[in-house]
Amino acid sequence: MYNAEPHSAIADGRIAAVIERLQATRRAPVRGNPMQSGSCDPHDYAEQGFSIHPEQGELIYLLCRGLRAKRVAEFATSVGMSTLYFAAAMRDNGGGTVIGSEIVSAKVATAKRNLADAGLADYAEIREGDARKTLRDLGGPLDFILIDGWPGDKGPTLARQVIEIVAPQLRVGGYVMNDNAEADFLEFVRDPKNGFVSITLPLKGGTELCLKVA
Ligand SMILES: C[S@@+](CC[C@H](N)C(=O)[O-])C[C@H]1O[C@@H](n2cnc3c(N)ncnc32)[C@H](O)[C@@H]1O
Repeated sequence: MYNAEPHSAIADGRIAAVIERLQATRRAPVRGNPMQSGSCDPHDYAEQGFSIHPEQGELIYLLCRGLRAKRVAEFATSVGMSTLYFAAAMRDNGGGTVIGSEIVSAKVATAKRNLADAGLADYAEIREGDARKTLRDLGGPLDFILIDGWPGDKGPTLARQVIEIVAPQLRVGGYVMNDNAEADFLEFVRDPKNGFVSITLPLKGGTELCLKVA
């Protein structure tokens, strides 16, 4: 017999309380999600987190601890759920920074409040604006990058555009996690010439975990 109750690696009650609050207030978008409603303008969804699920966050935390990660980034931040897991790992690794990105000002403010409530404000720098600009210069090699993207109208997805910008800034041995399985993102990380190996994990309906090997 084993105990199948999920166990969290986040031992700090202050952080766990903010994560629990975000989970409890997770809301389905009133007008449907961007794929259903016709609008892909992120400003139309300022109230919705579209956040990663706790099991994805726990994995981010654990992998970042294992890497002794000090420098990580995410596209995008939204209300800061993923940022909390990254920032917790930075703190527990003895210091580091998660560089966030978010185009909706109100969400940047909410994410900053959530980080402050968790006692993690010193471990995050959230860059407001279009991630295709704000993540262009991450200031040195990164250990881990989350690509938790957003649907666009046509052409390459944002996930594909962002991976092309950030992949050269990730160190060999670093990870990329992708939440939405965008076809052109998967094509990029599965093309051996781009230097990744990746697997699909059964989390939130399919989470791609990619390791930079060259
Ligand atoms: C799936 S959510 C991110 C959820 C977040 N990782 C979390 O766990 O809470 C995607 C976010 O991307 C933001 N976004 C959309 N287009 C963007 C862009 N070009 N640059 C930066 N952020 C963008 C949206 O406002 C939305 O908050």
